[in-house]
Amino acid sequence: MIIHNISLKSYNTFGLDYRSDYLVRIKSESEVLQFLDSDFSRISPLLIVGAGSNLLFINNYHGIILKPEMSGISVEEDLSDYVIASAGAGVIWDDFVKWAVTNGFGGIENLSWIPGTIGASAVQNIGAYGEEVKDYIEKVRAISLENGMIKIFNNTECQFGYRTSIFKNELKGKFIITKVFYRLQKNRKFNLSYGRLEEEVKKSGEITLSNVREAVIRVRKQKLPDPNYLGNAGSFFRNPVVDIKTSEILKKEYPDVPVYRHDEKSMKVSAAWLIEQCGWKGKRIDNAGVYEKHSLIIVNYGNATGKDILELSTIIQKSVFEKFGIMLEREVEVIE
Ligand code: EPU
Repeated sequence: MIIHNISLKSYNTFGLDYRSDYLVRIKSESEVLQFLDSDFSRISPLLIVGAGSNLLFINNYHGIILKPEMSGISVEEDLSDYVIASAGAGVIWDDFVKWAVTNGFGGIENLSWIPGTIGASAVQNIGAYGEEVKDYIEKVRAISLENGMIKIFNNTECQFGYRTSIFKNELKGKFIITKVFYRLQKNRKFNLSYGRLEEEVKKSGEITLSNVREAVIRVRKQKLPDPNYLGNAGSFFRNPVVDIKTSEILKKEYPDVPVYRHDEKSMKVSAAWLIEQCGWKGKRIDNAGVYEKHSLIIVNYGNATGKDILELSTIIQKSVFEKFGIMLEREVEVIE
């Protein structure tokens, strides 16, 4: 279904009221092909939007937005230790996590309550509490927007990295994901190593899939603002990755700085901590501000424009750079 001149307010979790010239809601693979056969496919630029939980519009969008709405969750293969489950790109991510937990399939319970859709989970390689979805994605089914061919990307071909994949880089705007296949465990070995997660789970009793899910939801609700009440896009910045030497120098000067292992050669530094040290936590500039309970989150107090939010983020980047010599990178995608 093609809609002309639509407000984007309910298509971005900052709640910004920009407009798009066109929006196409796509419910099936055949609707992708219909779109590609139509004159609308010649309109550019083109943007694919999931739940809009990682986007910052700063202008009206003079182009076409595709909104994948493919639904359905099913078990594709039932093997002795695991299942391969698939979900349509438009399924809400947390509905899928809930389905997995209810059916006793483990792996993604730490990723409960993350906003977004199935399609975005693969584009973005979502992560939380010591887990990343890349470790559970078996393959991704997508259609080329150039020639309508279906392509299956295996896990390696997706080129997953920290909050990134091939779909955000080389193939950006070139494929539309229609379905994602996940490998879920029947006998889950839980990962409660992050922070005080284990303690939180034990408040509900035994360590079970549903207790882990509930604990994660409790922790997230305490720290992260609900976009239905306060516009935001989760973490605004990535945690910066620095080499080990830099992290040691930083640790020497600031013994409290939280750093985590990224890979053999590098460490991740807590961006929230860096921002907080610069005095930004809870600070507000007109209608945009840094969330009072978590300084990695920029919130819209109601009437901020995309440009206000972008400007605040630039000031934050500058002050972190001046104090620590580290340039924060935005995780949120700015749409010009
Ligand atoms: N911290 C501060 N000040 C704050 C908040 C946190 O100093 O205001 C410190 C904490 O004390 C802790 C460290 O920063 O030592 C890490 O904080 P937290 O556990 O909240 O995680 P994070 O690194 O800020 C990342 C993800 C989140 C994810 C959490 C939990 C990124 C960019 N963000 O945040 O993901 O939920 O870990 O695993 O990797 C998202 O991507 O949108 C997102 C919310």
